[in-house]
Amino acid sequence: MTKTQQARKPYRIALIPGDGIGQEVVPAAAQVLMATGIPIRFVELEAGREAFDKTGDALPNSTLDALHQCDAALFGAVSSPSHRVPGYRSPIVALRRHFDLYANLRPARTIAHPAFASSTESVDILVVRENTEGLYVGQERVEANGHRVIAERVITRRASRRVARVAFEQAQRRKRHLTVVHKANVLRESDGLFRESVLEESRAYPEVKVDEGLVDSVAYRLIREPEAFDVIVTPNLYGDILSDLLAALVGSLGIVPSANLGDNFAVFEPVHGSAPDIAGKGIANPIATIRAAAMLLDFLGERETARSVNHAVDTVLHRGPWTPDLGGNASTVEVTDAVIKQIRKSLAM
Ligand code: NAI
Ligand code: MG
Repeated sequence: MTKTQQARKPYRIALIPGDGIGQEVVPAAAQVLMATGIPIRFVELEAGREAFDKTGDALPNSTLDALHQCDAALFGAVSSPSHRVPGYRSPIVALRRHFDLYANLRPARTIAHPAFASSTESVDILVVRENTEGLYVGQERVEANGHRVIAERVITRRASRRVARVAFEQAQRRKRHLTVVHKANVLRESDGLFRESVLEESRAYPEVKVDEGLVDSVAYRLIREPEAFDVIVTPNLYGDILSDLLAALVGSLGIVPSANLGDNFAVFEPVHGSAPDIAGKGIANPIATIRAAAMLLDFLGERETARSVNHAVDTVLHRGPWTPDLGGNASTVEVTDAVIKQIRKSLAM
């Protein structure tokens, strides 16, 4: 640790491990953050199914209050039931709404290696997903004695334009190519408004090339010719689905991170869920959450350190050790230790 780092006020970073493998991968990423030498004070907070069973609230007010005192948060995953449980609300959806975290950045990039038999070589795509509306407003109405359900899908010009702005800013940092993904041929009004709003916003970014695609055909093309894409901007549900597709293309859900950005706060998390099938076995891939921690460092303005964490991750993905999702047999701890070793090496240089 350098003198200037010692003298600096520590960042306050909330850790919300949640359920399942969240409780394994968040501590792993926290260890990596510690190893960077950046002064950080961690604040551990509860959310998720376990918190719900204990307190009756999946996102307790104590967690929300404490988050207001933090610079950013690292979130693991929660186990949200697919059936109706009275009083339960999805904490991550509630968090996105509470802090108005309107842009969800989901980068997916391939590291070519024989361990990823199924991964495509040329994927380097950023999905920017609208994060506050669309079908995820969760406004469902049961009618006709349970024989008909209506789900509302909300698209506003304001939310579409502000997420477009984030996507254009990102495109400027990358290859200056943005694809608007929608289904405006069927959903003429709602997706039509999303498409129109992005195109309106594009006038402020003449140096970015803009094109568009229908979500079904984009899903097909992402597998056939991923090199045709750089940044994608899309409504909530499409972004959720396409980013899982991209996770498969680059090798595993265990390696893709995401950032939920608002104007005043940000929450970083892996794209994956709580993975009950492998929880408690010590074999969850920590890399998605470690990469989310690197995005958090970037957000704090610690760009150099973020780069060195990403570089350490790339090295480990090239050389191993790998967890079973990537064809290896290493544990969460072994992969985390390997990343930390690489970071220490680069700090010593
Ligand atoms: P999932 O992402 O938890 O798991 C899908 C598959 O990927 C499983 O086979 C799992 O073992 C594997 N996988 C995921 N992360 C991995 C990692 N880090 N290392 C190795 N393998 C990994 O999705 P699933 O099974 O659909 O959902 C499980 C639970 O998670 C549900 O309760 C769901 O509601 C919740 N969920 C929560 C999210 C969040 O908190 N943001 C996001 C997605 C799902
Ligand atoms: Mg998802």
